[in-house]
This record gives sequence, C-alpha cells and structure tokens, in this order.
Amino acid sequence: MKKKVIAYGRVREKAQEKLREKYDLQYFSGEEDLSDENFKQALQEAEGIVGLGIQADETFLDHAPHLKVISTVSVGYDNLHLEEMTKRGVAGTNTPGVLNDTTADAIFGLLLATARRIPELDRYVKQGEWTEGLPESKFGYDVHHRTLGIIGMGRIGEAIAKRGHFGFDMDILYHNRSRKPGLEETYNAGFRELNDLLAESDFVCLMTPLTPETRHLMGRDQFAHMKNSSIFINGSRGDTVDETALVEALENGDIRSAGLDVFQEEPVSPDHPLVKMDRVVTLPHIGSATGETEDKMSLLAAENLDAVLEGNEPPNLLNKKVMP
Ligand code: GLV
Ligand code: GLV
Repeated sequence: MKKKVIAYGRVREKAQEKLREKYDLQYFSGEEDLSDENFKQALQEAEGIVGLGIQADETFLDHAPHLKVISTVSVGYDNLHLEEMTKRGVAGTNTPGVLNDTTADAIFGLLLATARRIPELDRYVKQGEWTEGLPESKFGYDVHHRTLGIIGMGRIGEAIAKRGHFGFDMDILYHNRSRKPGLEETYNAGFRELNDLLAESDFVCLMTPLTPETRHLMGRDQFAHMKNSSIFINGSRGDTVDETALVEALENGDIRSAGLDVFQEEPVSPDHPLVKMDRVVTLPHIGSATGETEDKMSLLAAENLDAVLEGNEPPNLLNKKVMP
C-alpha cells in the first residue's frame, strides 16, 4: 500500500505529480485547519505533509500520530515547532538556496518602487491626474550611491547586497548574528551593531528569519534611531516588526516611507492603517513567487519529503537530532 501524504497550499502541480507516482497524495488548498473534518482525517493517517502555511504546533502534531516529516515550501520555518517535532521524531525541512535571486529581485524592486513612488505614480497616471508637468510634490528619492543597511545577512541578504553594491553603487552595511568576512570583502560591506546600522542607513532592509529573538526586532526605539529621510523595507516576516510602532514612525515623520512584502496577519486587511498610507508600498508576500522558482521550491520540498520517507537524510533537514 502506498504511504499517505498531504500536499497543502502552495505545492506546484509538477511536484504533486512526482509525489503521486509513489504516494497516496491528498491535496488541500491551504485554507483548512483542524476544524476541517476532512483535513483532520487525512492528518490522522499521513506520514508526510508538504506545503506552505502549515502551522505545526503541539495541537497539530497531536492530530498527526503517524507523521514523519513536515516539508515546508519556503526558506522561512517559523511555522514549525522544531523542538516538539524532534521529540516526536518528525523531521522538518525547508527550501533554501533556490529562491535567493528571485527573492532579492522582488525585495530590491520593492525598494526601488518605494523610493521612486512607482505604485503611487502609476495610480496618478491611470486616474487621469497627470494633466500638466509633474509637480515637485511627486518627486522621489535616489537609490544609487546611498547607504543600504541589511539586517539578517543570509543568502538572500547577500543577493540584495550584490544588487546594491554592483548595480547601484550603494554603500553596504549589515547586521547579523555572525560576521561574514568574505562578504565584507566582496561587497565592501561594513558590519554594524543594530542601532548604528539604523542611524547610518538611508535604506534599512529587514531580512532576518523570525525567531523568539527577532520578534518585534523593529519597535519604537529602533524606528527612532533611523533618519527622518530613510526608508524601511521588510522582506522577512510580519512579526519581526511592531506594526503599531511602524505606523507611528510614519505618522510622526520619523522615517520617510516603507515597503512591505510581509505583514503580521496575512492576507493583510485593506483597512489596515499601513495599507491605507500612500507612503507605504505593499505587496502580497511575493518574495519567491515566480513560476520557475516556485517549481524549484516545490520539487525540492518533494525531494525532502521523499528522502525522509525512504529513511534517508533529506538535503535540507532542519532538526538534525531527529535522524538516528
Ligand atoms: C518566503 O517568505 C519564504 O520563507 O520562502
Ligand atoms: C535566508 O536569508 C537564507 O539564508 O536563505
């Protein structure tokens, strides 16, 4: 009998096809939770689950007694309670590497869009407001030759630094748990303590994973350290930012504007104060969302799941202690 596995939410068709060759795969759209009887039933029997948006806490795991692997189709894995999973012998895997350039493109695009006010000016044209010369009140802010501060210098952070340094002649600063000497040399990047980075940067780009330590990393004190002229970009997770403090910083003119790909609650409500501000450019968490890259992530996630169910170490195991 084929082993039962669940595909949940954003799992590309190619990856589902591959898994179906070998497994009894049941697909869920990603809206289901434990209040859905069909989902609960499938979870009772599943040995693996692959997908995006799986909230794997203790209660979830209680409902999945045969589970051996949760393979998330994302680089971030703040949704996985790894300690609890390890206790129960459930492997956790993610999809790093394959999304670096795609995500860096999106986040750099967001930075450009925010600085040059591209979405706002697109509305200006389409709504017929462009009836004479462009008024000075619509001018933007230069990106090139400015200082870009990156918080969280993982592989995506590095791909952003590369674009800033080589493409836009920017000065690169970074803050990270560990120093990256090779990267300091390649991009002439300067390591800074957080408050120094905030005070010196024209663009602050937040790319750190969400952990208990980085929850609300950006709060009132941190926004107060930023220059009034500076722009804040979030490409990490909504919970790394205290959104109330961000709204206040924007309202008080402590910072110029913000570009956000992530929100504390997703999908964010159109009535959210951040969404209502013209000075905030919003995106629906598009970091890795291109067909090619989503295919690669889904296929890698399928490979991770398959390896665990075959008794092998998967390419991207997050809780090493789970393997014998
Ligand atoms: C996207 O946010 C990811 O974690 O892959
Ligand atoms: C995330 O920043 C990564 O390391 O890929």
